[in-house]
Amino acid sequence: MSPVLDPVAAAEEIRERAEERDAVILAHNYQRPEVQDVADFVGDSLGLSRQAAATDASVIVFAGVHFMAETAKILSPHKTVLMPEPGAGCPMADMLTGAQLAEWRAEHPGVPVVTYVNSSAEVKALSDICCTSANAVEVVRSLDAPRVLFGPDRNLAAWVGAQLPEVEIVAWEGWCPTHDDVTVAQVLDAMEAHPTAEVLAHPECRPEVTALADAVLSTSQMLRHAASSTAEEFVVVTEEGLLHALAKAAPGKRFVNLTPRMLCPNMKVTTLPKVLDSLVDMHTEVEVDPATAEAARGAVERMVALG
Ligand code: 13P
Ligand code: SF4
Repeated sequence: MSPVLDPVAAAEEIRERAEERDAVILAHNYQRPEVQDVADFVGDSLGLSRQAAATDASVIVFAGVHFMAETAKILSPHKTVLMPEPGAGCPMADMLTGAQLAEWRAEHPGVPVVTYVNSSAEVKALSDICCTSANAVEVVRSLDAPRVLFGPDRNLAAWVGAQLPEVEIVAWEGWCPTHDDVTVAQVLDAMEAHPTAEVLAHPECRPEVTALADAVLSTSQMLRHAASSTAEEFVVVTEEGLLHALAKAAPGKRFVNLTPRMLCPNMKVTTLPKVLDSLVDMHTEVEVDPATAEAARGAVERMVALG
């Protein structure tokens, strides 16, 4: 364990160690502010997958949750992928297992399977193509199929279905505990308190919540939207970590956190001392069974190739 350092010293030491190790630090938009600030790249699931695929660094330190680090390993099998906090999971990803998907597929022969990247490598390996919240509509449209199986997020499935009424989306019953908890009453209260604010919602929210939003966007899409919109105030209906990134992306604008309960505990367990320790001790390495990774790579690469 590294000696206790103040955040500035820890960040400096992390940057030095990252250089020594030829490491790139990737952080998701929901990470703690100080972890976002020490990273080489901060982004949404799609942006981080692209960075993982493109990096020349020999080590990827992933400050995020397990499926994200696993996706980086799938795309870069010869690189060392480290998770500073290997216990950071995603409850939604655990709601669909490989065995369940195999059975679901068998019940719907010939129907393509679109899997949200918030899923395990085993599940990706049984999928035709992956998607993120940033490209789910485009991915489903690209299949040109009348019917698709979509998992594990029922809410993202509903959002895609509303955008593509010509496609029958058969949804798995999974959800994000953080986003699925948002209620219509909470959003209406925020709208009443901030009548000129634009409401930005993540598509992991329930359909009755996304129906109230001015824009339904992935986390990085929210950052771009806030910077380019003429609005000065925004009600942010996603995990509170994005508020730090929003303040940097659109300085001077006002961002309202819908509720302090919009917090993903798994996104908060990675701390600066853990990032430093992972670089010092090269832990914890993310491993994916090579045959599973090979099978999953096709589904992830098809998504990345869509542009
Ligand atoms: P984004 O891809 O929009 O960053 O979302 C990932 C996620 O886990 C949302 O809960
Ligand atoms: Fe998973 Fe929800 Fe956390 Fe995203 S916010 S990592 S979907 S539990």
